[in-house]
Amino acid sequence: MKTRYFTASSLDGFIATQDDSLDWLFPLGDLDDTSYPGFIAQVGALAMGSSTYEWMLRNAGAVAAQTGSAWPYAQPAWVFSSRELPAIPGADLRFVRGDVRPVHARMREAAAGRNIWIVGGGDLAGQFHDAGLLDEIIVQVGSVTLGAGKPLFPRRLADASLSLVSARQVGAGFAELHYRVNAGTRGNGGTDGH
Ligand SMILES: NC(=O)c1ccc[n+]([C@@H]2O[C@H](COP(=O)([O-])OP(=O)(O)OC[C@H]3O[C@@H](n4cnc5c(N)ncnc54)[C@H](OP(=O)(O)O)[C@@H]3O)[C@@H](O)[C@H]2O)c1
Repeated sequence: MKTRYFTASSLDGFIATQDDSLDWLFPLGDLDDTSYPGFIAQVGALAMGSSTYEWMLRNAGAVAAQTGSAWPYAQPAWVFSSRELPAIPGADLRFVRGDVRPVHARMREAAAGRNIWIVGGGDLAGQFHDAGLLDEIIVQVGSVTLGAGKPLFPRRLADASLSLVSARQVGAGFAELHYRVNAGTRGNGGTDGH
């Protein structure tokens, strides 16, 4: 069981524009050409922050047109927010707030041996890392710069914190980078015994 932050990013390290647009992302390539199909098949639970969830709410029509459903995930999903947010019909959702550690324990139980996907954003992935719970970071680095926006991972990972496991070209639009977060350098709040 791995906890993985899997996301696309601009070359200059942003996963969305400041106003939460992903319009720059979709022309870069087809998700099915990346490692996503194999990745999602191994996911048993996923987590996201409210901006990411609200993007799904705002774009439910487009998501449904592309995937056949306004909520394309069969796995249970945990949405972090301090606010009351509307549910998406048919989605298996739990709204949570605060410390990621008890939520991770529940996700781990639900995932039953499969992987946990931290969808984003970057700070939420950072909260899991701070707690010592993030095992891998997989990024499709797009051939585009945005200049500003929502950060990929607003943390400092120096001192051999990351090991590059693989790098793969996906057409002209992406370089897919797969990193392992080295155990001895993780945040130390984790309790699940990796
Ligand atoms: N490029 C990609 O592949 C990709 C992947 C994922 C996401 N995205 C996009 O990137 C953007 C990410 O936005 P973002 O950086 O703002 O991150 P986000 O994690 O989606 O949303 C951040 C918000 O989530 C809530 N939150 C986070 N941690 C919490 C906690 N522990 N307890 C309670 N609430 C918590 C807070 O808002 P409230 O408390 O006010 O609700 C916080 O401001 C979105 O536009 C998304 O669509 C892109």
